[in-house]
Amino acid sequence: MRRKLPALIFLFATPAFAGPVTVPSDTIIAARQTAFLLSGSVFGAIKATVTSGGDVKGQADNAAALVEWAGLITTLFPPGTDKGHDTKALPKVWTDMPGFQKAAQNYADAAKTLLDAAKADDKKAFAAAFKQTGKACGACHKAYRAKED
Ligand code: HEC
Repeated sequence: MRRKLPALIFLFATPAFAGPVTVPSDTIIAARQTAFLLSGSVFGAIKATVTSGGDVKGQADNAAALVEWAGLITTLFPPGTDKGHDTKALPKVWTDMPGFQKAAQNYADAAKTLLDAAKADDKKAFAAAFKQTGKACGACHKAYRAKED
């Protein structure tokens, strides 16, 4: 018995025994709302650059951040986060998850095109990709987000 103890301690110190990580649904909703808000600021900076004919290469980091975020969106809509923290997400997010995933993928693709144009320092392609990205935001909001009250 005495000799088995260290092995037992090892077992319980293994992360698998700590159980799954649980984050309250309100925190998940707050996190995604904050990320959307931040992405809105990033998108605003991109828009200002397009409008002013500014340095698109300097927007590569912003575009890369949108690509990263677009790829994570659906992970922040797990079942059980359809209510709370004044969420504006419509029930359709969960009843039509494939459609929601497609909308996020369209956004990721548009943001990737935006990133490529920024890296290539191609103003024309950047402006076109900016428009596409904006459409991807709008399309998802129209289908999956409640109107502001
Ligand atoms: C795949 C769908 C989808 C895409 C694409 C998308 N959004 Fe959203 N957005 C949502 C949903 C759903 C909410 C509501 C989240 C909630 O309240 O839980 C939201 C909320 C927001 C909010 C409000 C956040 C707050 O303060 O509560 C802003 C700002 C926003 N989005 C900006 C954008 C911008 C800018 C883009 C494109 C660059 C974009 N979104 C792309 C689905 C999307």
